Amino acid sequence: MERKKLFTKVAGLLHGGDYNPEQWLDRPDILRKDIEYMKEAGINTVTLGVFSWAVHEPTEGNISFDWLAEIIDNLYENGIYTVLATPTGARPAWLDEKYPSAMRCDDMGVRNRHGVRHNHCMQSPEFREKVRIMDSKLAERFAGHPGLLMWHISNELGGYCYCDTCRKKFQEWLADRYDHDIEKLNKAWWTTFWSHKFNSFDQIDPPYKNGENCVLGLNLDWKRFSTWSATDFMRFEIDTLRSAGATEPTTTNFMEMFYDYDYHYMKDFIDVISWDNYPEMHNNWQTDAEHLLERSFNHALFRSLKKDQPFMMMESAPGLVNWRPYNKYRRPGMHKLISMQAIATGSDTVQYFQIRKSRGSSEQWHGAVIDHIGTNDTRVFKEVKKLGADLATISEVAGTLSDNKVAIIFDWDNRWAIDDAWCLSNETKNFDKTCMNIYNEFMSLGIEPDIISSDMDWSDYKIICAPMLYVLHDGVGEKIADFVRNGGQFMSTYFTGYVNKDLLANLGGFPGDGLSEVFGLRSEEIDTLYPEDVNKISIIDKAGKPSYSVAVHDYQELLRDVTADVLARYEGDYVAGKPAITRNNYGDGHAYYVACRTNQKDIEFLYREMLEHAGIAYTKLPEGVEKHTRLSDDNSYDFYLNCTTDETVVPKVTGTNLLTGDNVTGSLSLNGYEVAVIKR
Ligand code: GLA
Ligand code: ZN
Repeated sequence: MERKKLFTKVAGLLHGGDYNPEQWLDRPDILRKDIEYMKEAGINTVTLGVFSWAVHEPTEGNISFDWLAEIIDNLYENGIYTVLATPTGARPAWLDEKYPSAMRCDDMGVRNRHGVRHNHCMQSPEFREKVRIMDSKLAERFAGHPGLLMWHISNELGGYCYCDTCRKKFQEWLADRYDHDIEKLNKAWWTTFWSHKFNSFDQIDPPYKNGENCVLGLNLDWKRFSTWSATDFMRFEIDTLRSAGATEPTTTNFMEMFYDYDYHYMKDFIDVISWDNYPEMHNNWQTDAEHLLERSFNHALFRSLKKDQPFMMMESAPGLVNWRPYNKYRRPGMHKLISMQAIATGSDTVQYFQIRKSRGSSEQWHGAVIDHIGTNDTRVFKEVKKLGADLATISEVAGTLSDNKVAIIFDWDNRWAIDDAWCLSNETKNFDKTCMNIYNEFMSLGIEPDIISSDMDWSDYKIICAPMLYVLHDGVGEKIADFVRNGGQFMSTYFTGYVNKDLLANLGGFPGDGLSEVFGLRSEEIDTLYPEDVNKISIIDKAGKPSYSVAVHDYQELLRDVTADVLARYEGDYVAGKPAITRNNYGDGHAYYVACRTNQKDIEFLYREMLEHAGIAYTKLPEGVEKHTRLSDDNSYDFYLNCTTDETVVPKVTGTNLLTGDNVTGSLSLNGYEVAVIKR
């Protein structure tokens, strides 16, 4: 496994974050202190200019970057590199006043008033022209600066605009998608239903709240279009920077479990994947370890967008955030655990929002490396500084990659379609959670899955799980068949293969598109249970006898025409005696079908069996411990994270703990929240 450094300018891992010196230009003493403290904390990178438009261009056309140039130079002279943002995440008042089309319209088509942020119309020609001027001038001034690492496009792109320009663009986008043939669209959207037929593309509206919002194909295409529109805006900014001479890599900060846009589409148009990680630690509904596993899942999702290079944790909070229902401080040791988890999962950076707290306005109480007290002896500062030293100690992991053999399929349009489908229970569909539960089960066996799309290349994987793959993209049925035929282990669940990419039901039995043959069964009914309903399945042992019972929750499918081996049968209800979990020998591989929802821990035998079939060695980890592996050509780095406050011992660990220098032979003791990086 090759080492793929993201940045040649910085030797090891990046440590730093969003820095807003423009708020302190009248306080040179503070700006000086900031640099002093950053150096002390081992900070080597800052992100500048994220919301600086009003400082760059206080009145229209009056653009000056002198203040920024001075800051970038100064940082560079002090060994701190810059990630430079285009300032399009928020707009100055003069811009909205003069060009109202820059302001987004809501889902009733009503134009927003000026204010807040992340709320521009991605298609407004007037706004784009202002962006073009701003971004070109930024690139002309700073491209090639020795202190410049990369470009940060806008900030946390998100949301939908329902203005007339976007409406028109949507119609054009649909015309392209359906070959300018309205009958193709009518067919795909099944518009004869409820007399929803369209005569021409210009009759079609976005799914306004007070308009047409129950044609499911329209709803889905609107989300696909909005992904396209945001990507188009992002590409416009990138192209503008490039035409003005920028050659540095680009990124934009993605968000956790983000729902608005399909990141599998966006990923191809950006050089580096980065995301903003804001855990809600020490909460009262899950353990730290459970919450951290959700973080890991997100890291895995972002890592897997571009597997051949590290990703960046672009933001995280030193201490606390200020926008959760309860803004609790991270307890001592948690800062390191959260930060090291990012590195463990494949990030080459630990970056924060923010270096220094803003003195006023809505984020004045958000965590920062430097607090209002202004000293370098706060608990948070000291933890950040310690982390800076730890990152330097393990700097050799920069550029290393993972080589996971297990993957989980997580398609955005499948998420959207499941949520929008009028069936099951909106209380319990829980697609995201279902994927996470499968991830967690592998993690408990010391195996980390990648999180991929059904359209990506699967050739690296030996085991693929596709829970609730309700929407089958074109060709995916055949792709699954090939994967299994060639020796893969493929696990699927209830609610798989029901519709095609247009959301039209697959005829002839589920799972459709040839998958009934791969799984050796058809599903005739999917039954939704109330939370109080009780059913069980009994797991059948190798001798064909029922061995133990497992509770069923939420969903149970009635299978028919089962030719696959039956691994579990329903115990009760009207499905009693019918197959509930099956395994089909297909070609050289196995296709598993889990027809009902259970706790994954209760069906761990299935995971063990798949891993054994795939020849992947695994070790059950102690409760609350995560293991992640990064590889270079010559070494492997196993990260062990104790996500609990209790001491624990991990079996079968050998190597050198880079963080302590200890040689570990046989078993690894970890204190509460301790992290070990074991080099082999
Ligand atoms: C987001 C934004 C930042 C900041 C943080 C606060 O991630 O990108 O500008 O508002 O949230 O947590
Ligand atoms: Zn718009």
